[in-house]
Amino acid sequence: MSRIAYVNNQFVPQSQALIAMEDRGYQFADGVYEVAAFIDRRMLDEARHLDRLERSLHEIAIPMPKPRAALSLLLRELIRRNARDSGLIYLQVTRGVSARNHTFPASIKPVLTMNVLPVAIASDAARNVGVKAITAPDLRWKRCDIKSIALLPNILSRQLSAEKNMRETFLYLPDGTITEGTATNVFIVDTSGVLRTHPKNEAILGGITRDVLLEIVRAKNIAFEERAFTRDDMHAAQEIFFTSTSAFLMPVIEIDGKIVGNGTPGAITKKLTELYKAHVAHEVAA
Ligand SMILES: Cc1ncc(COP(=O)(O)O)c(C=O)c1O
Repeated sequence: MSRIAYVNNQFVPQSQALIAMEDRGYQFADGVYEVAAFIDRRMLDEARHLDRLERSLHEIAIPMPKPRAALSLLLRELIRRNARDSGLIYLQVTRGVSARNHTFPASIKPVLTMNVLPVAIASDAARNVGVKAITAPDLRWKRCDIKSIALLPNILSRQLSAEKNMRETFLYLPDGTITEGTATNVFIVDTSGVLRTHPKNEAILGGITRDVLLEIVRAKNIAFEERAFTRDDMHAAQEIFFTSTSAFLMPVIEIDGKIVGNGTPGAITKKLTELYKAHVAHEVAA
């Protein structure tokens, strides 16, 4: 059965979903996006995703394309019309369509599109073993907190690890500070046993998975620091894992060719994964 997409204010088979050539998203990457998971036909962490969407739009002066309540109904309808119990929802908003001109056109309406990505959510197969990753220079701009559709540096960096059959590339600044992965946030358990991740600022995207996990960690009184670490810290770390909407928590067992810990998913990573899964179960049941 064909996938159903939302485009030009209607639901259509995705094969018939067409976008205007002069959409500023297409010509300038002038837009933002969201990716959220659904399981058993329930969207996870909907309010958090809509909050982040509103924030990203605000930061680049694009109005919300619909009131929040209407967007929420459309998201439910998108899930209802697609023949999948679980997967990812991709939602994109661009500034709109007009003859190409760098300045914002005076009267322009944002363009909302949504579709469903048929990917497996958080499969345990990779998580039980862990994955390999590399580091590479962070080539991005100075507002990585905005979920911009301009992802060229991310895809070029991700390709580097893909070509080595590895799962992710972690990005570092000229001083060696690790910011995040190309589509993930990254955590280490450092040599003192402290859980650390980069602070939420303009150098990283504030991941929803990261936010939820840190709330859990705070509630459970687990020691952690939102304090940046370097490539050297990462190479010496006892544990490394990354977080994302589709992966939840994923242990990294090899970084830049070096084995992490004893080469299997670490105890803290496993414990946090169980706590995060309990949050997901709660969302699905809500
Ligand atoms: C650059 C970047 N960092 C982190 C994340 C993880 O965010 P989330 O947990 O909301 O999926 C993403 C997700 O796409 C991302 O693109």
